[in-house]
Amino acid sequence: MKNIKNHLKDILKEEGLNLTENPRGTDKGDKKSYVDKFYEKKFFPFREKQLRLMEIGFRHGASLALWSSYFVDGKIFGLDNLSDACIQENLTINQNWLNRQNVETIIGDAYSENFSKQVQGPFDIIIDDGPHSIWSQKKAVELYLKKMNDGGLFIIEDILLGGVAIFPLLASVPSGYIAKFYDFRLHKLSGDNCLFVIQKESRILMVILNRLLVSLTGVMYLLTEGSLRLLRKVFKVAGVF
Ligand SMILES: C[S@@+](CC[C@H](N)C(=O)[O-])C[C@H]1O[C@@H](n2cnc3c(N)ncnc32)[C@H](O)[C@@H]1O
Repeated sequence: MKNIKNHLKDILKEEGLNLTENPRGTDKGDKKSYVDKFYEKKFFPFREKQLRLMEIGFRHGASLALWSSYFVDGKIFGLDNLSDACIQENLTINQNWLNRQNVETIIGDAYSENFSKQVQGPFDIIIDDGPHSIWSQKKAVELYLKKMNDGGLFIIEDILLGGVAIFPLLASVPSGYIAKFYDFRLHKLSGDNCLFVIQKESRILMVILNRLLVSLTGVMYLLTEGSLRLLRKVFKVAGVF
């Protein structure tokens, strides 16, 4: 009988994959809210499928180990150029996480056009957890969204600058897709604790509505952030802080 786990957080705990407990670990379940607030729910319907998941940026391999244990019938692909300072200086990669039977790694610059041609889709889930610059996040959409299956999820982790990043990311989403912005900064205080998620949508009206809604969300975040900054300055000048 297959050992199917229902909860990602159990795997994180049992296998010691959380960053707070293991310096080679992943931040997805402890420092960030992604496992609690997004992955547990959204990945559940996929967990017994023979899915193909691809993640850009695996560092020591903890997140690949997490997906490998959860999607026991899935195939997990990790891309990394091994540029991470933690890999080079302190800790070597955990080969036990990468040498699993359902894990495959491809080494190179994931954001180069030539490299992306070596990455054979299609994928049901694509995660961009690379260097988190707006440029790399837009490039990930440009190079890999076309490799996603209908019904799949394209997830960009750690959205910098909150509202500001929504607009360039939204502009990179082609027609035929919708996008959602998840802001978890009030759940766990971390400046980039946000996800940008893209899904296929063939109804043109839904796409137009979605663009309007997400743009409105962006404007609201900008206004809120702008007001908070202004308030902080006013209080500082008034000597309150
Ligand atoms: C935030 S870490 C990934 C963490 C991992 N997903 C986890 O949850 O444990 C970002 C990774 O992106 C990799 N990276 C940075 N630039 C890259 C590039 N151009 N192509 C591929 N990987 C890159 C780094 O080497 C690093 O391992």
